[in-house]
Amino acid sequence: MIKIAPSILSADFANLERDIKKVKDAGADLLHVDVMDGHFVPNISLGVPVVKSIDKVTDMILDVHLMIEHPEKYVEPFLDAGADIITVHHESEMDYDFVKKAVKERGKLLGISISPDTDASVIEKYINDVDMVLVMSVYPGFGGQKFIETSLDKVRKIREMSMDMTIEIDGGIGLDNIKKVYDAGVNIAVAGSSVYGAKNIDTIIDEFKSRCK
Ligand code: DX5
Ligand code: ZN
Repeated sequence: MIKIAPSILSADFANLERDIKKVKDAGADLLHVDVMDGHFVPNISLGVPVVKSIDKVTDMILDVHLMIEHPEKYVEPFLDAGADIITVHHESEMDYDFVKKAVKERGKLLGISISPDTDASVIEKYINDVDMVLVMSVYPGFGGQKFIETSLDKVRKIREMSMDMTIEIDGGIGLDNIKKVYDAGVNIAVAGSSVYGAKNIDTIIDEFKSRCK
C-alpha cells in the first residue's frame, strides 16, 4: 500500500498545529517538512526552530527534506529537533560521510534525493547506505508545479537497482497521477498542494490510497 506524506509547505504557517492535525486525522502516514535555504534553491522556507515546535505538537514521523547547501552543518540540530528521516540532495555541496554518520549514530533514517536533471545512475553509490531514495518530480524550491513525466523512468531504474529500497516521489502528485507513480514502484508519495488545496481534506488521503488498489 502506498504511503502519503503531506508537505506542510502548502499548509498555513500561522496555523501549523491545526493543519498538521488535519492530515494526521485524515490518515497521513508521514509529515513531509521542506527546508529551503535560498542557496541550493531560490526559496527560503523554515528551519530548526520550526521543526522543534512541530515535534512538540505531533507524534507523526517527521520526514525532513533538506534542500540546502552543506547539510553537514545542520544535520545534528535537525536530528535534535526531532527529525526522523533526513534527506539530503546529491547535487548539494556536502560532507556526505558526516551526514551519514550523524543520522546513523542516532538510529534515524537517511534519504538521498535527486533533482530532475540528475540521472538515476548516481544512486548506485548510495544504495547500500541509505534507507530511502527521494526522486524529485519537479524542480526543488516551490510547491504547486507540474509533474515531470520522466521521473517515472527514474523510479523504475531505481526499483531495478533494489527491490526493497523505499522510494519516495515529491512534486506535482495528485489524484490524476498517484496510480502511475505507484505502479512505477513508489512507496511514499509527497503531496503538498493536492492535499492542502483539496476540497475535502478529511477524505483526500483515502482517495489517494483507493486509486492505488
Ligand atoms: C518542492 C518540495 C515539495 C513540495 C511539493 O521543492 O520539495 O515537497 O512541497 O508540493 P506539491 O505537491 O504542491 O508539488
Ligand atoms: Zn519535499
